[in-house]
Amino acid sequence: MRVAVTGGGGFLGSHLCEALLRRGDEVVCLDDFSTGDPANISSFLEDPAFELVRGDVSRSVDVPGAVDAVALRGGPATVRALPPSSRSSRRTGSVAAARSFR
Ligand SMILES: NC(=O)c1ccc[n+]([C@@H]2O[C@H](COP(=O)([O-])OP(=O)(O)OC[C@H]3O[C@@H](n4cnc5c(N)ncnc54)[C@H](O)[C@@H]3O)[C@@H](O)[C@H]2O)c1
Repeated sequence: MRVAVTGGGGFLGSHLCEALLRRGDEVVCLDDFSTGDPANISSFLEDPAFELVRGDVSRSVDVPGAVDAVALRGGPATVRALPPSSRSSRRTGSVAAARSFR
């Protein structure tokens, strides 16, 4: 699968990226590094199965190609940008996907 991980450059997100890569998935990491540290993902950058897209997912980020799944990680900014009715975890993932994966 090709999995997009928002906030993939953060503490938890980078561990998720690592786990996905280890099980054989392709990973598209979306992060604006507002709180994350690029060092968290530096060891993945040479991996052809890993792609980094820098940008704010609460706005809109161009993600090249199709993705099979979206895993939402990120700080409060990601959630605050969404309508209150969409803040359950499942709906948040859907709305983030709609904004960034057109
Ligand atoms: N060694 C350790 O044990 C350790 C180290 C660091 C953090 N922590 C703990 O982990 C928790 C925090 O981890 P986390 O992964 O939830 O937070 P995080 O800040 O590390 O990760 C959130 C990621 O989302 C990104 N992000 C936020 N808004 C975004 C947006 N609009 N668009 C794109 N990217 C966006 C940030 O840049 C960041 O990379 C805390 O409880 C902290 O205490 C533990």
